[in-house]
This record gives sequence, C-alpha cells and structure tokens, in this order.
Amino acid sequence: MSQSIIIVDFGSQFTQLIARRVRQAQVFSQVVPFNTALSDIRQLKPAGIILSGGPANVTMEDAPGCDPGLFRLGVPVLGICYGMQLMATQHGGQVSRAPKGEYGLSRVKLHTASRLFSGLQDESDTWMSHSHQVSALPDGFAATASTATCPIAAMEAPALSLYGVQFHPEVTHSQQGMEIIRRFVLDICRAAADWHMDSFAQQTIEDIRQAVGQGTVLLGLSGGVDSAVAAALIARAIGNRLCCVFVDHGFMRKGEPQLVAKVFTAHFPVHLSAVDASERFYQHLAGVTDPERKRKIIGAQFIEVFREEAAKLGALDHFAQGTIYPDVIESGAMPGSVTIKSHHNVGGLPKELGFTSLIEPLRTLFKDEVRELGRVLGLPPEMTDRQPFPGPGLAIRTLGELTRDKVEVTRQSDAILLEEFEKAGLHRQVSQFFTVNTGLRSVGVIGDKRSYDTAVAIRAVTTDDFMTADWARIPHDLLALISRRIVNEVPGVNRVLLDITTKPPASIEWE
Ligand code: XMP
Repeated sequence: MSQSIIIVDFGSQFTQLIARRVRQAQVFSQVVPFNTALSDIRQLKPAGIILSGGPANVTMEDAPGCDPGLFRLGVPVLGICYGMQLMATQHGGQVSRAPKGEYGLSRVKLHTASRLFSGLQDESDTWMSHSHQVSALPDGFAATASTATCPIAAMEAPALSLYGVQFHPEVTHSQQGMEIIRRFVLDICRAAADWHMDSFAQQTIEDIRQAVGQGTVLLGLSGGVDSAVAAALIARAIGNRLCCVFVDHGFMRKGEPQLVAKVFTAHFPVHLSAVDASERFYQHLAGVTDPERKRKIIGAQFIEVFREEAAKLGALDHFAQGTIYPDVIESGAMPGSVTIKSHHNVGGLPKELGFTSLIEPLRTLFKDEVRELGRVLGLPPEMTDRQPFPGPGLAIRTLGELTRDKVEVTRQSDAILLEEFEKAGLHRQVSQFFTVNTGLRSVGVIGDKRSYDTAVAIRAVTTDDFMTADWARIPHDLLALISRRIVNEVPGVNRVLLDITTKPPASIEWE
C-alpha cells in the first residue's frame, strides 16, 4: 500500500466525509480513533495527518486530546474545526467562546498568499459549525482566513507544516472545499495520487492468497452488493475453494435469487449452495405482527439455516464477510462518536459457527468504492448498482403479518418502481427507494365495481449517510406513471401513497 493520509477522529459527523474527499484526490486515507498510540500512527507511515472536528470543545475538562508528538512526526498536519482548536491550544494559543456561534454557510475571506489557499479565489461560502474559536494565535502561526465574526477562521505555520481551518472543507456545500483538501494532500503532503481501484483489487487479491494459503473459505451471499463484491474478490484469489451459501428467506426482491445464482455460477464459478428456505420462514412468522419480533425470528432462522447449509459443506478454514468501512466506524469502534446503527445482516455469525479466522476484504472501502471495485472485477451492473437492502428484506416492507400474497404485492410494486426509476435515470440520484405494502385496505372502484384493496406506499430518500434523510422530490409525471402501473399491474392494489417524511422523525424503513 502506498503512503496514506491518516484522519484522527474526534467524533465529528463528517469524519467519513474527510476520508472520502482524500480518496477522491486519489490518495488512500484511513480513520483512526483520537486515542490511537503515536507509535501505531507512525507505523502507518502517513504522508500527512488530518485532525477531524468533534462535538466537544477544547475548553472542557475532559475534552479529547492527542499526543503532542503527532505534531512533530515530520509530516504536515491539518486541523479542521475542533482539530484546529486543539492544534492552537497545544501550541500555546487560546480558544474561547465566539461572540456569536456560526452554524451553516458563512462567507469567509481567504488570504491567497498563504500556503494552503494560494491559487484559490479570495472569498468562499463555507460550512461552519462552532460555538468556540481560536482567539489568540500560537507563536509562529499566521491567521489566513476570517469571517464577519471569526477573525481567525484559518491559521498556518508553514515552517512547522501545521495548518488549521475553522470551517469544514469536506462538506459539499463548502465552495473550494475539495480544492483545499487536494491542495493539502497533494501539494503540501506530496502524497502520491495513486489510489486506484484496480491496484487495490490486485493488492487485495494477493493479500487474500497469502492469508488463505491452500485453505478454504465460507461466505454468506445476501444478494446485496457488499457480499457479492467480497465473493468476486475472493473468487479471483482462490477460485472454487470459496464456498458461498445463499439463503433465500422468501423476502428477496424480484429476480434476486436467480441473479445471484447466475452471477456466481457463470461469471464466478465458486462453490455455491443456494437454499430456498422460504417455507420455514413463513411458518415461523405465521401470526406475528410485531416488527421487532419479525426481525428477531428472521435473524434467528437465518443463522439456523445458514449453519445447516454450512455444515453440509464440511469443515472450512476461514469465514469471509463483506463488512465495509462505514460498518466498521458505525459499530462503535471509534470512541468519542455516537453509535448509530447496530443492525447487521450476519452479525455474530462467524463466532456462532466457531470461526476464529475472519476475512473482510472490503473493510477499508466506502459503498461507492465497493460498487466501483465490483465493476473492476467484472460484476454485472444489475449487481453493482443494487440498492441497499436490509437483511430481513421485504418482510419489513410488508407491514403486519406476512403471507406470500402480501409479500408478492411488495415485490411486484417494488420491481415497477425500480424499472421506472432506472428508465428515468433517477436510480443513481435517489439514495434508496422501494415500496411498502402498508397492509391498509381502502375502498376504490374498478370498472363499475367496488373494490376493497391494498394501499402501497412509495418511499424514496436522499441521504449521504442513511442516518438522516430527506424524501426525494420525484417529478409528478413520473409518480403518475408509477402509480398507474402499480394499480394496473399488481393484483390487489387500488391505491398508491407517497411517503413525504424526513428521517428523523421517521426511519427509512417502515418496520
Ligand atoms: P432505517 O430504517 O433505520 O434504515 O432508517 C437506515 C438504513 O439501514 C437499512 N436497514 C438495514 N440494513 N439490516 C441491514 O443490513 C437491517 O436489519 C436493516 N434495517 C434497516 C435501511 O434499508 C436503510 O438503508
């Protein structure tokens, strides 16, 4: 692996974004918790370090700090927001409460004679989120930007290779933000812009070969992008010594089991055991209406079926999972940040199955990078462009008790939505979209006859991180077309609704 940029995380909600922006500059980046030992950071041989923002403020007693040695590793350091304030106080500067906090867009004047901002335009709208700010510069530093209420909105000491910005260049709304990141990473840190997906693929295939030797690997395919890409990568490394298990619980999207079977026998000849366990799932779920109970039953049954299928394959040496970078970060591995999401499709599975050796080749990748890797490995677009899909599948989009008929309504209406979004080119703009069988029945009229049928809801959201989301503004003509097709083509549906709720307070899924 070539040199990387290390992002020291102080719990900012934007830490992942910083990592992504650096990779967009084609430099590999890694996030480490703020309390990582200096020796561990040194071992990573970074080309530069970025200190993230964070919810604390440096004047608090228990504010998270960092080893002062971090500033003397001989590589440039950029502090963002909290990171800048920490840099200031650790070098003898002062931080105090701002006369007026800045939240949202702020007009900032940049000193273009400075090292970090040279070549940029001298004014920008930038994203700010702070109540405190640097009020006195440390020795050797110069102020390099200001806003109406923040005289030191950036600072630098080029002789020490230290830079700080109070605003958030990583946030999309910050004009010239990407330029600033690029400038720091490429010009100041002189990191090589050699982070490309095909080199990552080659390197990872080699690593897997090393780790597995002549051994065998078990992997659960879910139908989703992550496990498919992990399987493709491992298949390239060890061929049919990879054994995949695909459990169809009966709540898959239209054509999903067939797609998995096609891809992993035709393009990637791995050892695939696909099992249709739907009958068993429906039996265990009969009469169950509570969403949490539904989820628990599905989770427990999934593990049981998976275990049985895996046992049929005999003893295997390693267990592989398509864990991706946001899973690693969100699982709470980062102190100082809040744990947001605890659901996992195959959580705890390796331990349950008695595996100690775990292979997670996508651990350092973001979702869009996983998709790109899938393309590099030759997975078809139907696979690499798939929507995120929850483990319990259509079961949590079919409200109340589950029957095959009700789930079929969800499946067919979902397929129509997908088809029309693809035709309109919306599938790449809207982060997640699906239909929900609300289980509600209402009166309608078909021909001359009264109907008393199901209402289906459309849920479509835009989001960066799936922790908060806005409902997608879909053109009315397209909604009209989708509604018409659903009521005409899906038996038992006489009404289509649009979910116009943000998250929070609603969640993205309905159950
Ligand atoms: P919510 O409904 O919590 O969903 O707003 C946020 C994102 O998580 C997905 N989701 C799941 N993913 N297993 C998963 O792997 C699950 O049990 C699960 N439940 C929700 C959801 O589709 C959305 O992308």
